[in-house]
Amino acid sequence: MTVIEQFPLGAQLRLADLERFDNAPLLHRLREHEPVTWFAEHGVWLVTSKALVDQVQLDPVRFVVDVPGNPQRIVLGEQMLVVDGEEHSRHRGPFAPSFRYSAVRETFTDTVTERVEQLLDAIAGASGAELAAAFANPFAVSVASDILGLGIEHVEEVHDIYAAFAEGMVGYRDPAAVAHSALARERLAEFLVPRIAHLRARPDGSLLSSVIGARDAGLADDEELLANLRLILFGAIETVESMILNTTWALLHHPAEVRRLQEDPALWPAAVQEGLRLIPPVGYTDRWASEDTEIGGVPIARGDYVIPVIHAANRDPAAFPDPDRFDITRGDNRQNLSFGKGTHMCLGVNLARIQGAAALRRLFERLSGLRLDEARPSEPEGFNFRRPPHLYVNWGSASASRVRR
Ligand code: HEM
Repeated sequence: MTVIEQFPLGAQLRLADLERFDNAPLLHRLREHEPVTWFAEHGVWLVTSKALVDQVQLDPVRFVVDVPGNPQRIVLGEQMLVVDGEEHSRHRGPFAPSFRYSAVRETFTDTVTERVEQLLDAIAGASGAELAAAFANPFAVSVASDILGLGIEHVEEVHDIYAAFAEGMVGYRDPAAVAHSALARERLAEFLVPRIAHLRARPDGSLLSSVIGARDAGLADDEELLANLRLILFGAIETVESMILNTTWALLHHPAEVRRLQEDPALWPAAVQEGLRLIPPVGYTDRWASEDTEIGGVPIARGDYVIPVIHAANRDPAAFPDPDRFDITRGDNRQNLSFGKGTHMCLGVNLARIQGAAALRRLFERLSGLRLDEARPSEPEGFNFRRPPHLYVNWGSASASRVRR
């Protein structure tokens, strides 16, 4: 029996099907009949049940990231997301203390609040906006800039550097895109190298300063430090932007949940977590089999590319009863996989959750009557990264927004 005959659902599958937002029935079918399937169009294994996705993510010996040709290495260099085992601990170790919940809460709560209020001040007087451009993107970029110690004055450059990295990641086989991302690396180094020298001479309480202190015992040289900072910049922008857009989109389609949040604002962290479960900004992670092995009884050959699908695992009814329902008080949603799991679980998870709860709560509080602009609808899309391409919203009284048009 050929692999195509063995996995008929995987054989019929097209990337466009996986990119569509309304594909939950397809993912349910896959999980039920072929929880490990051969996605013939792209020559990769897709894993769709929560239990098997956990198995892959929690086994960094059989399923690794350190392979030649990993796009993350080509674009960002040798950093924690492309190395395994002890090498991974060495790269991640200096950053870990600064990203613990208590450290992040102390370092970032005021900055995050300030960035949120500044951006909302700028739009609150209007009656509508495209939320990605007016709020979610500049918020994510400015906090990423804060993490790197670059502050608000470099946000435009940080935005452009991110865009060049993202272009390189998509077009990593295209020399022009890779060359463009290499220029962005140089540009970022122009900001960071003097900053690192300054902080080494005069340490302060900033995150970067703490990382440099811890790092000097760990990472081999400044190129490794710079590579991990590039990864952090890359990891902290589109993800956070999408978290805000996706959760706003979900809430605006579920006004009863918004009313629950108005009555009990302590529910905001849970609402963010549920938005992340239902519409994960990152749809899957990349792994490669380090040996001939199996997943769920399906033989996998050494070197095969294996994709644990977060979209599908997060909607597994075995883990999340009634999984397609948006319910901000579901008791099980902390085990969702939107930040990954295991050794490579998101370094920024605590910061991202603080950002999500602060940004969304204040967005809904300050822009009262927030609603979708029905004349310009959109919905989340994408398989690797998922978000609405734009999100037009109005607020205030309905008559005010009619006058504006
Ligand atoms: C809602 C926002 C975010 C989402 C959904 C998200 C998602 C993820 C996921 C799924 C992974 C695992 C990748 C894998 O296993 O292959 C990951 C790793 C990572 N994330 Fe995030 N992320 C978010 C925000 C952030 C932020 C704010 C930072 C800034 C520090 C960040 C930095 C990283 C880093 C450095 C890694 C690699 C960790 C390692 O290899 O040990 N992320 N993220």
